[in-house]
Amino acid sequence: MTIYLNGHYMPIEEAKISVMDRGFIFGDGVYEVIPVYSKKSFRLQSHLDRLQHSLDGIKLTNPHNDAEWTAIIDELINRNSAQDQYLYLHITRGIAKRDHAFPNPPVTPTVFMMSNPLLTPSDALLQSGVGAVTAADNRWLRCDIKSIALLPNVLLRQMAVDAGCAETILIRDNEFMTEGSASNIFVVKNGTLLAPPKNNLMLPGITYDVILELAAANDIRHEVRKIPVAEVFSADELLLTSSTKEVLAITTLDNNPVGSGKPGEMFAKLHKLYQIFKRDVMRAP
Ligand code: PDD
Repeated sequence: MTIYLNGHYMPIEEAKISVMDRGFIFGDGVYEVIPVYSKKSFRLQSHLDRLQHSLDGIKLTNPHNDAEWTAIIDELINRNSAQDQYLYLHITRGIAKRDHAFPNPPVTPTVFMMSNPLLTPSDALLQSGVGAVTAADNRWLRCDIKSIALLPNVLLRQMAVDAGCAETILIRDNEFMTEGSASNIFVVKNGTLLAPPKNNLMLPGITYDVILELAAANDIRHEVRKIPVAEVFSADELLLTSSTKEVLAITTLDNNPVGSGKPGEMFAKLHKLYQIFKRDVMRAP
């Protein structure tokens, strides 16, 4: 596997960073996950815009303009053999003496990027759906920043794994649903697709945008609004979306079946539309 680190491409085994890197010491950095289909990055501009939003959120100057990012990303894609990849892009505030405050004057940010083969959910998983559990959303108030400081998400996701499930659905203030520990969540009720509004309490998912665009373009009834916890528990269907999972049905919640307990019609429709979109938009010559 060839990776990119601070201006150089190299085998992952050769990539080294200082233990004084603020990413290592403080989790002081941001990241992106960008899917690649047939060696073409998916919605690159949206990912670069969200990266800028995250960098602005942590007051870190973007080390590259969009043209430079595009060149680095294209080069990394071409140096790795898989047709479908997922790129992980990571920027930290750089290497400095340990002090919580920003280094002054600023130091050079650390830029790391790697590519892994993109393995989307298997047919078996698409047919069975996955289990989820619920938990209190105990994260901070800037979940719109794609921060590398993911300890709350790590602990929340492990709750799902410990329960034999795939995802943890997060409930803020005992009141409303925000998202999953590593995905966005949609609720389906009486044929309407419900999505929570983008705000500081959730990551503005790129896949979330695609799903809402597909719904709008295909006359699927949808509403973007706050989703009270009761609607999560009485949903006909629950869906999760992310760059690596695309769209997946959640068929059990806290050990109880969601709706019929099988992936539903809305899932089937959106999954199909997503695959068509991928084929027509991404795999076109
Ligand atoms: N995570 N919400 C959270 C908390 C996430 O971590 C992610 C994605 C999403 C979905 O965003 P998108 O559709 O842009 O992938 C929502 C990535 C895949 C990860 O951390 O690996």
